[in-house]
Amino acid sequence: MTHLHNKTKELVNTLTDDERIKSVKKPKWIGYTQAKKIHKKLEDLRDYPTNLRMPNLLLIGDSNNGKTALLNKFTTTNPSFIIEETQELVLPALMVQAPPEPDEKRFYNIILENLYAPYKSSEKIEMRQQRTIHLLKKLNVKILIIDEIHHLLAGTISKQRLFLNVLKFISNELQISLICSGTREAFNAIQTDPQLANRFEPKVLPKWNNDEEYLRLLASFERILPLKNPSHLIENSLCSLILSKSEGLLGEISKILELSTILAIETGIEKINKNILENIDYTPPSERKKMIFR
Ligand SMILES: Nc1ncnc2c1ncn2[C@@H]1O[C@H](COP(=O)(O)OP(=O)(O)OP(=O)(O)O)[C@@H](O)[C@H]1O
Ligand SMILES: [Mg+2]
Repeated sequence: MTHLHNKTKELVNTLTDDERIKSVKKPKWIGYTQAKKIHKKLEDLRDYPTNLRMPNLLLIGDSNNGKTALLNKFTTTNPSFIIEETQELVLPALMVQAPPEPDEKRFYNIILENLYAPYKSSEKIEMRQQRTIHLLKKLNVKILIIDEIHHLLAGTISKQRLFLNVLKFISNELQISLICSGTREAFNAIQTDPQLANRFEPKVLPKWNNDEEYLRLLASFERILPLKNPSHLIENSLCSLILSKSEGLLGEISKILELSTILAIETGIEKINKNILENIDYTPPSERKKMIFR
């Protein structure tokens, strides 16, 4: 089983089929090139010397293409720690989801909740803001990640503007980097504020194409899918079929491979081939939309 990663080989050798199927359903992480590049960029921002004009980053990509997974990975690899000498608690990165609409109060609530800090619903917004700023400072947060920033667009233009001002205020007051992540529309929302626009460097997670990077991704997947036989996913007919079914989205590629692995285990074929790919219970994203409107 030279086609497998050592850890995966061990799983195949020790687990029952049912256990193997369970293991396939667990979240997987593959460090593809663009993810590694963005991860490195986030580390640079984390270590950036504090100044009055901190650089920010805007992570843009289609839905289901790996934005949240990437940011989660960064957050979990940067957990809180205590500085021995000063006994100070440091939380390098805090990740929150933007409120469902651009609402300043809810935004503070979300940050406070993520920091396990209680708040009273009667507490005035100014107090809530002060406390949020105070806590983020006290915890030495260096990077504030706000996922689903396109929620901003669910409000009127004036509410959007107000919310962008809050982001600017937090970034200036704390001198930390903001990482906002969302779909392409989020880019337009941020562009409406010229001052913010030139402080956010856009980074894109593009859809996958049939190129070397995609083949590398498939090869990495193959090493962690617990199948006894090699599938040679990078062979032309298989890689094209997976790409067309997935419509170039990482989440769909992952789902297709998960379903195929399960079917390959259940049928005893123990590898992914064209027949398996054609027999999984899977509907491509655009077909799903059509089914609903049919
Ligand atoms: N690095 C990775 N390695 C393997 N699978 C991944 C990776 N990143 C993402 N995935 C898969 O893609 C799926 C979708 O990823 P994610 O939730 O991060 O997308 P998203 O871009 O945040 O989507 P949305 O805009 O809808 O929130 C994940 O559930 C996971 O299965
Ligand atoms: Mg997401």
